[in-house]
Amino acid sequence: MKKRFYIKDCPDRKAVHAWIAETLDTDKYAKTMKPSKEGVLFEFKDSQLDIDALKDSIEDAFVKYGWHGFLNIYQGKFARSSNYGGLSLVTNPTYRYDNIPSNAQTLGYPRNNIPDELFMKNFSLFEKIMEKRLDKDLWSETQEFGMHHGFKYLHQHGIIDDKMLSELLDTYEDRKDVGERINKDTYPDTWGFRNWSECSGHGYLGTLRDRIKSSPVRSRIAQIKGIDDKATQENANKYLWHRDESWFYELRINLALDNPENAYGIEIEDYGTKSFTPGNWYVWDTYVTHRPYVAKPMPGHKRTNYVLAVSPWFDWNEEDQCWEQNEFYGEKHPVDMVIDGDVIDGLSLVE
Ligand SMILES: [Fe+2]
Repeated sequence: MKKRFYIKDCPDRKAVHAWIAETLDTDKYAKTMKPSKEGVLFEFKDSQLDIDALKDSIEDAFVKYGWHGFLNIYQGKFARSSNYGGLSLVTNPTYRYDNIPSNAQTLGYPRNNIPDELFMKNFSLFEKIMEKRLDKDLWSETQEFGMHHGFKYLHQHGIIDDKMLSELLDTYEDRKDVGERINKDTYPDTWGFRNWSECSGHGYLGTLRDRIKSSPVRSRIAQIKGIDDKATQENANKYLWHRDESWFYELRINLALDNPENAYGIEIEDYGTKSFTPGNWYVWDTYVTHRPYVAKPMPGHKRTNYVLAVSPWFDWNEEDQCWEQNEFYGEKHPVDMVIDGDVIDGLSLVE
């Protein structure tokens, strides 16, 4: 019997996918199931794509719907990046923040209660947090309990020593801007972004969209631009390390659209870098730390990716406002779904 999960039943404290996964113990598959083919990064050719038509429609869409910089995630304020941004392919109709345009909902959110310059001054802190995979937990803890609690959390987990803890506590006044942990209908609610946005159907984008069989979740057009000099390049690479959800919940298929001078690619922890072939799609477990990578300053150039994220094992039912378990649940690895054409038509694995 396929199970259904009505979003009205999800408590405010939970992101919908986390609530469903906990209820079903989906993690037992996420921890043990392996793709049928070995590898970290899976590359696919696309027999149906008209890459120039897609690039034209994306440029058109920026004119019509705007280009929205990523919200600077290490600041408490709404500062948008001028180097990294784009458009949101999906929207959450019940998103809690109504000051975010619906075509920009998946372009980041500011972390609450974290001092603006903490990581700028202490980059090694950020590295240690990523190494120990404490990032998501830290953002949630500081959001719910405030800045000083966050410092103590870093101390408890061996990221900072006694001396640094007392320095931080002395330097920064405690801040508790939110005081409540709400995940449903906020940025971390990956499956909250359950409807295609208007811009996702613009021109050739709509033709590409028609080939997608799985339900879309947090997806975007992501562009990197203005990497004009060495300092900007180094800074961009440094701060773009991050993790997304595991591919069992948020299966990302990244379509690379341009790569002049082999300057653009992806870097994955314990794997290395891979330079993109324009027109090919790339899949890896986005729960592993990774970053978009720019190999050298690229004045006058832009790098555009169509970042499709889908929910592999649950389908969205708009009429009944629920997520429905599908036939792949617990049966087929998300990567194998891409290989077999269950997610999008026209892709073939590069072996
Ligand atoms: Fe990512």
